[in-house]
Amino acid sequence: MLVTSRSYAEYEAMFDLTELPASVLDCCAGGSGFTAEAAARGVDAIAVDPVYDLSTPDLVDAVRRGLPAGAAIVDEHAASFVWNWYGDPARKDEMRIEAADRFLQDVSSAPERYVHGSLPELPFEDQRFDLVLCSHLLFTWAEKYDRAWHLAALRELVRVSRSEVRVFPLVQQGAGEPVAYLPELLAELTEVTATIRQVPYEFQVDADKMLVLSR
Ligand SMILES: C[S@@+](CC[C@H](N)C(=O)[O-])C[C@H]1O[C@@H](n2cnc3c(N)ncnc32)[C@H](O)[C@@H]1O
Repeated sequence: MLVTSRSYAEYEAMFDLTELPASVLDCCAGGSGFTAEAAARGVDAIAVDPVYDLSTPDLVDAVRRGLPAGAAIVDEHAASFVWNWYGDPARKDEMRIEAADRFLQDVSSAPERYVHGSLPELPFEDQRFDLVLCSHLLFTWAEKYDRAWHLAALRELVRVSRSEVRVFPLVQQGAGEPVAYLPELLAELTEVTATIRQVPYEFQVDADKMLVLSR
């Protein structure tokens, strides 16, 4: 799986963030610059990802490889992407390179913010974070992770959140196929209120909605 590096600005748009609460978890953060930027704004921000147990050279390599590999997926499925939000491919690459640099700088200066772990079992206590964000893992990789995994992962994200979980996008990678069992999954999550909300971001065609799970 790709280790991509979305920027704080992309997270703001994908998750329709206005103000951040006191504590935020970025789950499956990869090489994203979100945690570094949120921490710089005074938020108790933590990132979790299975790749955080890699050695520094291997992590740098995985993050650097994420950019061309992500761009190749877009090229392969060009008709399934729109450029209104980014403007053009050069701007997207610029944002991702800046975010990767920000991430790599922060991992070395504040390693305590980057925790090794993977869904569906996270190394955090119940209700540890006000807000939990999940970008481009659930639904995106529905070919790799099945329905039972998704249900367990959503329950785990809810367990570590005090208030809200936000997940984006709700379609699969590449051509952006919908995930057929999404409505059934949400019906099974009776312990929370599940809402699908429009966001001010679209890259995969029609993938302009996030899932919000509220306690
Ligand atoms: C496409 S990247 C998304 C990275 C970042 N959230 C972003 O939007 O740029 C997917 C990330 O999910 C991580 N991942 C894979 N399996 C995971 C799991 N079971 N639990 C948590 N993260 C996982 C990968 O290591 C990778 O960094």
